This record gives sequence, C-alpha cells and structure tokens, in this order.
Amino acid sequence: MEGYIFDLDGVLVDTAKYHYLAWKTIAQEFGFELTPAHNEQLKGIGREVSLHKILQWAAKTLPENEFQSLALRKNELYLQYIAHIDNSELLVGVADFLQTLKSKGKKIALGSASKNARLVLERTGILPLFDAIVDGTMVTQAKPNPEVFLKAAELLQLPPAQCCVFEDAPAGVQAAKAAGMRVIGVGEEQVLCAADEVIPNFSSFVLHNS
Ligand code: G6P
Ligand code: MG
Repeated sequence: MEGYIFDLDGVLVDTAKYHYLAWKTIAQEFGFELTPAHNEQLKGIGREVSLHKILQWAAKTLPENEFQSLALRKNELYLQYIAHIDNSELLVGVADFLQTLKSKGKKIALGSASKNARLVLERTGILPLFDAIVDGTMVTQAKPNPEVFLKAAELLQLPPAQCCVFEDAPAGVQAAKAAGMRVIGVGEEQVLCAADEVIPNFSSFVLHNS
C-alpha cells in the first residue's frame, strides 16, 4: 500500500467523547436522553444528519431556523470542549505510526466528515504530517458514501486499490469498502466486523500487515 487515509474522530484523536457530550447536552434541552448506544450510530455521520437522527429518535420536528440554531449551538459546545486540546488527545500509538509511515515514504491523508478537522489536526500538532486533507467542508455526500475517501485518493494521486483506510465507525468502514479500499477498523471487532482487519489501537499495528 502506498496511501494511508485516516478518519479523525475516534481514530487519530479522542474527540468522539466531546461530540457525544455536546449532542447529549443539546438532546437534554428537548427532554431526550442520548445514550452511548445512540452515539455509536452518530459516529462518522455529519453534523446535520446527526441532528436529524436525534430528532427522529426523540419523535420531534423543528422549524428550519431552530434546527440550524441547534446545530450551531452543538458546534459551539464542541468547540468549547476542544478549545484547549493538545497532543495528549492523540490516541495510543498514533504519533509513532504516522512517523513510521513518513519514514517509509508513504502518503498520508485525512478523510473526515468533520468541518473542524483542520483545527483539531493543528491543535494536536500532526497537521504537517498530512499530504492531503479531505474534511466536511469538501464533500457533498456523507459516509457511507465513498466520496470522502475517493477524493483523498485523488489528492494523493493514488488509485483506490493502493489506499488503506483506518476507521472507527461502521458507516466509515462501509464507505471505504465502497471506495474499493482496504479498511482497518480501529476499535471493537463486533462493531467493525465489515472491516478487512480490526485492531484495538495503533500500539500493536505492524505496517507490513497491510
Ligand atoms: C465526524 C464525527 C461525528 C461528527 C462529524 C461532523 O464524522 O465522527 O461525530 O458529527 O464528524 O463533525 P463537525 O465537527 O463538522 O460537527
Ligand atoms: Mg470516527
């Protein structure tokens, strides 16, 4: 493999918990208790689609302007949570693995639905390691659509078959498979069973495996 494409939240950085806390606060405002099980279904899914799902679970409809202001407020809460993050939020083994890829001359890209992706890469100090970044501001179709990963491969100037994706969300695993890429799930085997391989984290990952 020549290209390595990473999802952001829950793969490189421990920010999934902040998305969850922010959505939980928003949901509580209209009396809905968002559980970790609900949150699993929001991983990898864009901001507005996430809010649509939460409202559906809560059997609630909102006028467009209120919908937009809730989405905006969720982001303000999330930004407060990540205001002071640094490289201690990088998940275990990530910094070493990115350095290994660099030293072997591999290409590194980001494929994330988040519109805050650049900010998070910058704050955690890993932005300079990326050859290409595709984030939520650059795609029109959310995961499980393969657009985000196909765009990343295009920017790396590599065919999809030469790219390996790392994902923590079922929607992302599906997107990577649909893009014709090898996908390594980062997390739990039973959640990510559609991946080609599942690893608990990067500390034990050996490059020649993929
Ligand atoms: C990632 C996360 C989701 C988040 C989405 C949009 O895919 O896994 O939990 O909702 O990005 O993030 P944003 O920062 O643009 O609200
Ligand atoms: Mg993720």
